[in-house]
Amino acid sequence: MSLSSTICEQLYQLAHDKNGENVVTNFNGVDVLIIQRHEEADHILRLNAANYRKNMAWFRLVFGPSRFSEDGHPWAIRRELTQSYFSRFDRERTFQLAQSYALEAVETLIKQSEKSTYIDDGTMRAMTAKVLVENFFDIKLDDTDIDLGVLAEFMEAGSDYSFVPQGKTTDLYRERLMQLPELRRKILHQLGFFRRPDVIRSPLLKDLLAADQRQTDRVVLEHEMMTFMAAGAETSAATMSWACYLLALYPAMQEELREIAQQFWKANEQSWKALSSLTPLARFISETLRLYPPTPIVARYAIADDHINATPIPAGQNVMVSFIGIQHDKRLRTDPWKIDLTGDRAHISDGNTMAFSIGPRVCGGKHFALLELITFLSVFLTKARFELTSDEPPAYLWKSQMLRLGGQPVRVSAL
Ligand code: HEM
Repeated sequence: MSLSSTICEQLYQLAHDKNGENVVTNFNGVDVLIIQRHEEADHILRLNAANYRKNMAWFRLVFGPSRFSEDGHPWAIRRELTQSYFSRFDRERTFQLAQSYALEAVETLIKQSEKSTYIDDGTMRAMTAKVLVENFFDIKLDDTDIDLGVLAEFMEAGSDYSFVPQGKTTDLYRERLMQLPELRRKILHQLGFFRRPDVIRSPLLKDLLAADQRQTDRVVLEHEMMTFMAAGAETSAATMSWACYLLALYPAMQEELREIAQQFWKANEQSWKALSSLTPLARFISETLRLYPPTPIVARYAIADDHINATPIPAGQNVMVSFIGIQHDKRLRTDPWKIDLTGDRAHISDGNTMAFSIGPRVCGGKHFALLELITFLSVFLTKARFELTSDEPPAYLWKSQMLRLGGQPVRVSAL
């Protein structure tokens, strides 16, 4: 098994062939334990998380050290710096921003559908990045120097480095790394925009700049911004692309969900709270994240000897937790390969639980993501119809996120 763009196919294959089992496999000459059971994922990611460090030495080389890649004290101070903003965001504002950019995006998708039978991932990315930047930095994305195309290119070039097991390097990784500096220089230059004295300083930006200037903790504004954009915009964009595919795949379900969304928007008053309590819409988002988790795997390594059940885990062991495996475990639901909006399931393997990870390294933007996603979905449903343009089963593109190779074969037409 080699670590390459086929990683997503390999994870789905394992979920099929070794369903409900943890598996030892070989990545580039290194033994890696792939966790496909939620019990052991809980041990590694939550109960004994202190023994399992993030395995991101290569990712760090490419993207620079940030909250996403660091562990121990350097992680704790970065978390402290940003988490209050990600947890206590203004929900009403997010709801308004997500509505307005979803409307813009769905109109663009309708126009693009006149010429193409595939959905453009770039339109989704623009939508999520606009909400993210404006929400947390009080600035419109279009008024910054950020070119999302360059960011996407960089993410793709760096994607081979997301999950390199500890202990071995290969020529491929070294060669690809040589190609990255030019792209990296471009992106760092663009993100340097946020240092300009004429740029409005939101409270989050003020704190990030102050930490950057203190220099004691080696916080670099551009590194935090880069992973913030990757973690916060690309993931939600990938989720919305998969959501459009599932709407098209299940037309009757699409109609039922549309009815609910239309009722919501017809009411005299709309609020983020009322929208979030619409269970079928929330479950649809959760099922999208379960069937197609944008971050399908997380990588760790053991720092001291441990064991799970009777299996010893020696210090230095590479461990990867497959959300695809856990979320398709047959022990936890009747048919894990099919979408299911009913309550017949184990919550631990729900997309809105597992796909954001669990334990101390749980996604920092989970609540923000869930709110914007349900808002995007409700707007999309009331403005457009989604139809499949091909029955081909998905092939996957690994771009530091799990995307669909070639884009989603979906026609978007105005209602
Ligand atoms: C559908 C959307 C999203 C999904 C599926 C997702 C998933 C994840 C996952 C699985 C991790 C853990 C990675 C690991 O343990 O190695 C993570 C971490 C993180 N995510 Fe998200 N994410 C999403 C959206 C967002 C958004 C919108 C933001 C920002 C507002 C965000 C910010 C972060 C941060 C800061 C971390 C690092 C947490 C830490 O280690 O302290 N994410 N995300």
